[in-house]
Amino acid sequence: MGRGFFLALEGIDGSGKSTQARLLAVSLLQQGREVVLTREPSDGELGQKLRRYLQGPSRNLSPGEELDLFLADRREHVERVIKPGLAAGRIVITDRYYYSTMAYQGALGLDPGEILAANETFAPRPDLVFLLILPVSQALARLQRPRQLSELAPYLERVAAIFDILEGPQIQKVDARATSQALHTALLAATLTALGKVPSSRFQVPS
Ligand code: TYD
Repeated sequence: MGRGFFLALEGIDGSGKSTQARLLAVSLLQQGREVVLTREPSDGELGQKLRRYLQGPSRNLSPGEELDLFLADRREHVERVIKPGLAAGRIVITDRYYYSTMAYQGALGLDPGEILAANETFAPRPDLVFLLILPVSQALARLQRPRQLSELAPYLERVAAIFDILEGPQIQKVDARATSQALHTALLAATLTALGKVPSSRFQVPS
C-alpha cells in the first residue's frame, strides 16, 4: 500500500474550515476516492477533554499545560487515525492540525517556531494546507454557537496575526470571504491539482 495524501484545513474560528473540510470530503468521495475526514481536538478521550475545557467557563491551565494537552491529543490522533489512513492510501482531511497550535498557543505567548519543532518530531507534515483567511470581525459575525473564550476578538486577532505569517511550500492561503460554494470549487480544484502531482506509486485510487 502506498502512502495517501494528507490535507489540513486551518483558520480562525468562524473562517468556514469545518464546512469546507466536509464539502471536500463529500466531493472526493463522490469521485470514488477513499477519504478519512477527521479533526482536532480529536474525537479521542483527550480531544473530548480538550473540547470540554475550551467550552468551559475559564481557561485555567497555563499556556504550557494547554500545549502539552494538544500535543498529547495529536500524538494519539496521529497514531489512531492519521497514520493508518495514510498507510491505507487514503486522502486524510483534518479540520485543524499543528498550525492551530502554533497560532492559538502562540497567541498565549509561546514560541510558534518551538511549537512547530515539537510537533515535527512525531506528526507527519501535510502535503497541502489550506489556510482560510477572514477578518476577525467577519468570522465572529458568522459564529452562532455560544462563545468560547478562544473566540474573543483580541485573542483571535493575535491568532490571525500568527496564521498570517505562516509560510511554506505546502501552505495555500485562501481568501475565505467568498461564498461557501465558490470557495469549495476553488479548494477542490487546488486539491485535485495537488493530488495530480503525487507520484502514483504513493497514492492509489480504488478501481
Ligand atoms: P474548533 O475547530 O473551533 O472546534 P468546534 O467547532 O467544535 O468548537 O476547535 C476548538 C478550539 O480549539 C478552537 O478555538 C481552536 C482551539 N485549538 C487550539 O487552541 N490549539 C490547537 O492545537 C487546536 C487543534 C485547536
